[in-house]
Amino acid sequence: MTGLFITGTDTGVGKTFVACGLAALLSAKGKKVGVMKPVETGCQLKDGQLQPGDALRLRRFSRSKIPLDVLCPYRFASPVAPAVAAEMAGVRIEKEQIRAYYQQIAGQHDITLVEGAGGLLVPLADRYTFADLCRDLDVPLVLVVGSKLGAINHTLLTLGCAGTMGLPVRGYMLNQLTPTLDVAARTNRHALAQATDVPCLGSLPFSPLSGEDADDRVALIALMNREVDVRRLLE
Ligand SMILES: Nc1ncnc2c1ncn2[C@@H]1O[C@H](COP(=O)(O)OP(=O)(O)OP(=O)(O)O)[C@@H](O)[C@H]1O
Ligand SMILES: [Mg+2]
Repeated sequence: MTGLFITGTDTGVGKTFVACGLAALLSAKGKKVGVMKPVETGCQLKDGQLQPGDALRLRRFSRSKIPLDVLCPYRFASPVAPAVAAEMAGVRIEKEQIRAYYQQIAGQHDITLVEGAGGLLVPLADRYTFADLCRDLDVPLVLVVGSKLGAINHTLLTLGCAGTMGLPVRGYMLNQLTPTLDVAARTNRHALAQATDVPCLGSLPFSPLSGEDADDRVALIALMNREVDVRRLLE
């Protein structure tokens, strides 16, 4: 296996947190980990350059030396879907370019984690979505589920889409986004286990380790080691 595609039930559900945690965990287990964020929107302008925050964080936690232009070839300022941001910027996102960079990264690493943007049906261009990209890269999905009210529906919609398109799914990771657990958050794990045969790969608690500036690698590895079913993730 050479890659995993980290998608989510929505934007802001913890894809980057999970991908950084997996990158740190797998590299601590001796794997050479590559990362990719093919398109990042909502980038801040710093010293005349668009800064892809997710891509930079992924690179930091994977400890890979991939050039930023390969890791994140498409960066946009507008915080909208890639196809929309690209159109606003007068740029066309080329799937062949993404595929070539993915193959370059995957060829140099034991495992490559690719983070999408938003959810699985977010468009990169016209009718071409991240689901199509997954199929073209031939990588299984890991679905990050923001554990809140609506998560069951969003999870089943995403798994249904993956099933229809014949995309393999390694499993889903539940992620707690708020410090207090409402009744939905308390019952989501059980409800999802009842609703689908796709395995739960783990459940992450609300954690300060997810913060943009959080850099406690040791604590993150310990958390992931405790919570993630690595054997299932990699099988
Ligand atoms: N387990 C958690 N505990 C506390 N805060 C969390 C947790 N997971 C994510 N967050 C917070 O939620 C926000 C979104 O997380 P993250 O950036 O990982 O989401 P994402 O799915 O990658 O978003 P995007 O679609 O923008 O790429 C961040 O501010 C992050 O710190
Ligand atoms: Mg992200």
